[in-house]
Amino acid sequence: MKISVLFLSLLILWGCSSEPEADVAWVDTQLQYCAAQAEKTLKLVPDSIPDIPRNVNSGGSQWRFVDYKDWTSGFWPGVLWYLYEDTQKEEFRQQADRFSRELTPLSEQPAYDHDLGFQMFNSFGNGYRLTGNPEYKSVVLKSSDVLATLFNAKAGTILSWPREVQKFGGHNTIIDNMINLEMLMWASKNGGEKKLADIALSHAETTMKNQFNEAFVTGHVVVYDTLTGKKIKRVTHQGLNDNSMWARGQSWAIYGYTMMYRETQKPEFLVFAQKVTDVYLKRLPEDLIPYWDFDDTHIPDAPRDASAAAVTASALLELSAYVKDQAKAAEYKTKAIGMLKELSSERYQSRDKNTAFLLHSTGHHPNGTEIDASIIYADYYYIEALLRLKRLLVK
Ligand code: GLY
Repeated sequence: MKISVLFLSLLILWGCSSEPEADVAWVDTQLQYCAAQAEKTLKLVPDSIPDIPRNVNSGGSQWRFVDYKDWTSGFWPGVLWYLYEDTQKEEFRQQADRFSRELTPLSEQPAYDHDLGFQMFNSFGNGYRLTGNPEYKSVVLKSSDVLATLFNAKAGTILSWPREVQKFGGHNTIIDNMINLEMLMWASKNGGEKKLADIALSHAETTMKNQFNEAFVTGHVVVYDTLTGKKIKRVTHQGLNDNSMWARGQSWAIYGYTMMYRETQKPEFLVFAQKVTDVYLKRLPEDLIPYWDFDDTHIPDAPRDASAAAVTASALLELSAYVKDQAKAAEYKTKAIGMLKELSSERYQSRDKNTAFLLHSTGHHPNGTEIDASIIYADYYYIEALLRLKRLLVK
């Protein structure tokens, strides 16, 4: 009897000590690391275009730079705005302004695809939030109008990849597109037309209906008939197969529906955000960093995706503040802190290997590109999550 009581106490103690803990000092240490890495990257950016850091391939140390047209072009200015927010350093403000302005042409030309939110809201949107510069606001409003031109009222969603209509056989909508709705919601509340919010709402509701299977796992792409708007099929592009759980796709869903609940206060989005979260959390490995696709048969030898972990950590910190069930809210917060702890370990931080923040993201596995790489969007959501955690801790 005595032994079993002792065993139980030890188990409880072990359980408590394995709970990830984070205080402001710990978060500040990680943010200082990010600032130091970004300062090193700033010294490496070329004087001529392309000059926006996108990725460092596995085992390498050199950034690959892209220009404003690349879908990832908004993450680097976004990282610099977050660093300015945390440090108030003038150098970060100037560089964030410089790299944001490079993207201006996207607000003045026809839409290439749905990625305008990733590009323009992370850059100019964060810039306006932090400085109130009316020039930035005008760029975001114009970009939102450009994004809205991709909306198909019959299907009820935005066309994600205009250049792939033939390949997929119709109006295609990808789960990543959920993130770009944030810019439309913001624009409609800040001087843009009401129809921008209507489009975002229609997109989120239609996606909720058509993109997920009965277990709340998202498909990457849903194809609709361009003329009738009828759903044709659900297929993958960056995942393992049409029915697998592609890690970043699921993380876009978690982030997207949490954000749409914030923006609309519609309870169905909060319920749905929890459903898509719970299936992801249930299937995570113990260290909380997903393999690039949860159904890869090579697990545990498959590559990880730190970017999906960073997106999810950031989303869960927000979701934990909305969920009424206290046990559930605590679970989301604890899991998010655990993800950030692992990402901040020597296993995931780039440290002296390269000047990104994180290693081990997977971009496009079926294409064989950016596998086990440092990728700028992982860094963006990592620093966003750290800032969100800091705000929760100083409350
Ligand atoms: N939006 C493209 C990706 O998540 O890889």
